[in-house]
Amino acid sequence: MQEPFALTIAGKRYYVITTPANSRLFFSDATALTLDGFLNRVLVGFGCGLDRIPTLWQANPPTPLNPKGKNLINLTEDLFKHHLLPGPTFDILVERYRGALRDLLSWDRLTTLHPMMDEKRTKPISLYDLCSEFMINATQMSLFDPVLFQIDPSMTTHLRTFTDEIWKLLHPSRLVDRTVSQQLLRQYTAAFLTYLRLPADERKNETWLIKTILETYEELGIHETDRAAMLVMIYWAGDANAYKAAFWVLSYILYDPQLRKQVRQETAPAVGPDGGLDMAYLVDRCPRLSSIYHEVLRLTKRDVVFRQVVRDTQIGGKHLRKENYAMIASCQLHENCETYGADAVSFNPDRFLKQPELAHQPGFYPYGGGKYYCPGRYFATVEIYGFVALMLNHYQMELAVPGELFPRRDESLLTFGISRPVPGDDLHVRLTRRT
Ligand code: HEM
Repeated sequence: MQEPFALTIAGKRYYVITTPANSRLFFSDATALTLDGFLNRVLVGFGCGLDRIPTLWQANPPTPLNPKGKNLINLTEDLFKHHLLPGPTFDILVERYRGALRDLLSWDRLTTLHPMMDEKRTKPISLYDLCSEFMINATQMSLFDPVLFQIDPSMTTHLRTFTDEIWKLLHPSRLVDRTVSQQLLRQYTAAFLTYLRLPADERKNETWLIKTILETYEELGIHETDRAAMLVMIYWAGDANAYKAAFWVLSYILYDPQLRKQVRQETAPAVGPDGGLDMAYLVDRCPRLSSIYHEVLRLTKRDVVFRQVVRDTQIGGKHLRKENYAMIASCQLHENCETYGADAVSFNPDRFLKQPELAHQPGFYPYGGGKYYCPGRYFATVEIYGFVALMLNHYQMELAVPGELFPRRDESLLTFGISRPVPGDDLHVRLTRRT
């Protein structure tokens, strides 16, 4: 079907955009199609006071930190772009991530965390646990001062459950049990309240992004509860997807011995013996890893991208009326045979290798697009490449359970971002230290 079509659910109309060409218009028409209304729901879901939401959108008097006097939401978006798009502060963030990986992936740490077969080999480890444990810890270490681990040592452990449960906070209903999601939200809020109440010199090792955000909120006199809610949101946005993407990338690589050999050889020059990592080499000179990564994003970023229609507009000949919604089902666009060919629903490690331009055409939107285009996309890419390259080159990774089936995507969970595996589906790996 070429023209957008409309569905009516609970009295609201949802215009569904189905073609790559129309999805380009969907992302570019930012004055008619906005995420701001949904953002309010997200803000309240994360704990901002409903009655204070208007103050978060109101313009502020110009100051040195906010020379254009923007509202808090737009200012926060600007700070994300400023610090997470390539540039000096991005380089510092990547350097911090590199250090975090070096610490977290050391053999000594691994042997204290996992049972050993003998002094060189671990017993089977869940790959999903491995990826989430390393990636979530590494992201926290990159963004925040280490004092956050002392304030609440279990935050990283619970992030996976929090991510799976988050939809219950954003779509509350009396038919849904929110006990776990609310309890975790309270836990994270309490941790961040303690964190932001610390004098700045007691959290001086946080990244520039967090430091600037906290200084700006202080200057604007943002309510403490709202500040903590924003930090929980930032923590979740920064952590919620990369570990799942890394899991799928490593699953595909490990499941195919040939691919495993190729990616290891390709990435080896970027990995130093002391845990050093040449990120530029990984990003620019590892086309096979890049192809697998893009293929994973294509197949596992399957959620719905939403916008609120705030002004009447047209897309693909269809009239979209204000006060309704427009949406793209990523899975439908990401499996479009006209764009990706007859094998669009299957994993093909060579797809983006042979046609790298596919990553830049309308119809590939793992990070959304337009005004709300994910500012963390460069960092997420570096995180995943670095983790995969280090794992493959520092350790011999073997599948530990003969005949273990390839994990399936969980299509039943309302996900914001990358799909998780069906609960219980996993791959188990044995790590051997390379000498
Ligand atoms: C594989 C990892 C990631 C995926 C798949 C992902 C995906 C997305 C998507 C789909 C959006 C919404 C875009 C839209 O509606 O058009 C988004 C927004 C956002 N992401 Fe990511 N993201 C990832 C990693 C990150 C990281 C690591 C950070 C921060 C460190 C981050 C921070 C944000 C922020 C702040 C927004 C909101 C942007 C705005 O409202 O202007 N993301 N992300």
